[in-house]
Amino acid sequence: MYNEKVIEEFRNPKNVGELENANAVGQVGNATCGDIMKIFMVIEDNIIKDVSFQTFGCTAAIATSSVATEMIKGKTVDEALKITNAQVVEELGGLPAQKLHCSVLAEEAIKAAVNDYLQNYKAKQA
Ligand code: FES
Repeated sequence: MYNEKVIEEFRNPKNVGELENANAVGQVGNATCGDIMKIFMVIEDNIIKDVSFQTFGCTAAIATSSVATEMIKGKTVDEALKITNAQVVEELGGLPAQKLHCSVLAEEAIKAAVNDYLQNYKAKQA
């Protein structure tokens, strides 16, 4: 059901865990399946210097978390906000149709973390 890239990312996910010095944290969940994705970022001068995730979810959710964090590392917050779940799926080489919704968590978690930074951290510095 899953392609090799998805299985590889699930077995050896990158950027797993919590970043203690994170200044941006976003958590989202899927009410239907109950899966939860949390993304941590260290942002300096609008650049995502480091990023990690903790996902309690299915194979597709773990794999999308892994590639999504790789896709935004080193990017500006504006670039990260433009990442779509379709791009994450493309990076994975596709997902089964019934698993496409899992990739939405990655897009939403990135947006939630960046918004946390913009609203809570950056706003306080201004
Ligand atoms: Fe819940 Fe995949 S089934 S995120």
